[in-house]
Amino acid sequence: MMLSRGHTPHTSTPITPTRAPTAMSRIPDADDVTPKVAGVPVDDPDVSSVLYDANMIEGALEQLAALVVSHLGDFEVFVPVTTGAMMFASDLVRSVYTVERMLREELQRGYKRMVISCATCASYGAGTSSDANVEVEVRLPSCDLKGKRVCILEDIIDTGRTVMALTKALYEAGAEEVALIALMDKSARRDAEATKYFEEKNMKIACAFMCPDEFVVGYGLDYGGRYRELPFIGVLKPELIAASA
Ligand code: IMP
Ligand code: MG
Repeated sequence: MMLSRGHTPHTSTPITPTRAPTAMSRIPDADDVTPKVAGVPVDDPDVSSVLYDANMIEGALEQLAALVVSHLGDFEVFVPVTTGAMMFASDLVRSVYTVERMLREELQRGYKRMVISCATCASYGAGTSSDANVEVEVRLPSCDLKGKRVCILEDIIDTGRTVMALTKALYEAGAEEVALIALMDKSARRDAEATKYFEEKNMKIACAFMCPDEFVVGYGLDYGGRYRELPFIGVLKPELIAASA
């Protein structure tokens, strides 16, 4: 089945510039120096290797959107975990809507409109995120959660402690069921307590990409607030992490 992009802008009226660009205002074309996939740059001087380019991300989003429509049709509240999941979530929810509209004849159910409301999670404690004593502070979405089926949208599952803390908080706030859609899974670093918790809750989980045990940036993922704007996901050069650690 071919699914169309969820985020291709359509306009019936061509947009014409109010002023023709002059030779002076033209931006030099960098086509000949920047590697590109379908017009999107696929490298950056601070990235040692690109793991997932824009085409791969787009393909993964289509699959995840189809999965949400087929398996989570009765989930109403979608909770992006900011800031990292903002790009993933904004592309995915539009893909879900597009798939729903495309399949509306075939689906034997009505469309449940999404409630989208963000959560914020911050880790505190001595040491890195792999420190078992780290505390995760959760700020819940502002929408009504009582009796709702809630789907967390996360950029990457690392130890799993962030998602575990958020899931617990959502259940405490009255959610009926909590599922998880993540773009990446760094499963090598998963915390045993988190794995046990997800199993006990019989949690529906889907991840698009298995991520190697390396620090990745781009498509929303950051290092010190930077690199989120990269249109691909790549491994940050280790010397850049060491230099500012
Ligand atoms: P966890 O609690 O260990 O699962 O950590 C998950 C959070 O850590 C994610 O929401 C990300 O914000 C962040 N994170 C984990 N690995 C990476 C990475 O490789 N790059 C950027 N952020 C990461
Ligand atoms: Mg995060």
